[in-house]
Amino acid sequence: MDNASLSRKTPQASELAADEIPEAVRDRPYLEAGASQSKKKGLIWKLLGLGAVAFGVSIWLHLNFNFFPATSRAQETQQNPAAASSPSGVAASPATNSKAATPDNLLGHLPYPEAPAQDLVNVTPDGSVKLRKTAAAKYQEMANAAAASGIYFAPISGFRSVDDQQHVFFDVKAERRQNASKRAEVSAPPGYSEHHTGYAIDLGDGSSPDTNLSPSFENTQAFKWLEANATAFSFELSFPKNNRQGVSYEPWHWRFVGDRQSLETFYKAHSMKK
Ligand code: DAL
Ligand code: ZN
Repeated sequence: MDNASLSRKTPQASELAADEIPEAVRDRPYLEAGASQSKKKGLIWKLLGLGAVAFGVSIWLHLNFNFFPATSRAQETQQNPAAASSPSGVAASPATNSKAATPDNLLGHLPYPEAPAQDLVNVTPDGSVKLRKTAAAKYQEMANAAAASGIYFAPISGFRSVDDQQHVFFDVKAERRQNASKRAEVSAPPGYSEHHTGYAIDLGDGSSPDTNLSPSFENTQAFKWLEANATAFSFELSFPKNNRQGVSYEPWHWRFVGDRQSLETFYKAHSMKK
């Protein structure tokens, strides 16, 4: 109802006006306006107060009960992109860990226990290459299958003790005048080599010895056969190209993950420490 309508003096209009305006404020237009403004102000203050309380409660819930996990997950993924690849937020495999992600890695390498001596058997007739019994049996099966296709593996290195690795890492490092980081690109420090476990083996191609322990091993028939068939025998490449451990590409280094102990050795202990 506008002012022009209110000021009309027809009885009908007056009656209507009197009915619409509450008795207490009738004929006191400016008091009415003041009261309505102060009501509005009161309402705004109440809303602001409620907003502040709601904000405070949500901060408290988040701090005490992680009440907004979606937000936390997004932050976690930003801090550790590896977490994004698994529903639990835990990186899937030590082979996909970043150098900085685990508290127990050393220059990108993870700690491994030495296999017990009684669990090791010869893979080569002279005993220079040994693996754990389960891994050795499966390796032999795999080598026989490859041989049936005219491909002959040359086992180069299997189990290595922590003492062996001491020499491989530090003596060669000194010989080559490498710093620790550079050396760790191709060799694990003692205590941190998959070779300690008795589940890892370095393989060459019997007909291309010049490619032994070289990235060019990937061009051999032996590597191509392994790439296509190794998983059928539960062997996998430990250090593929651009692995997140920052270790150089090693097409010759394969590890056995075909029983509970080997699987746990390479996947369980370290992935839980993310
Ligand atoms: N070459 C691999 C990383 C080792 O030394 O165990
Ligand atoms: Zn190796």
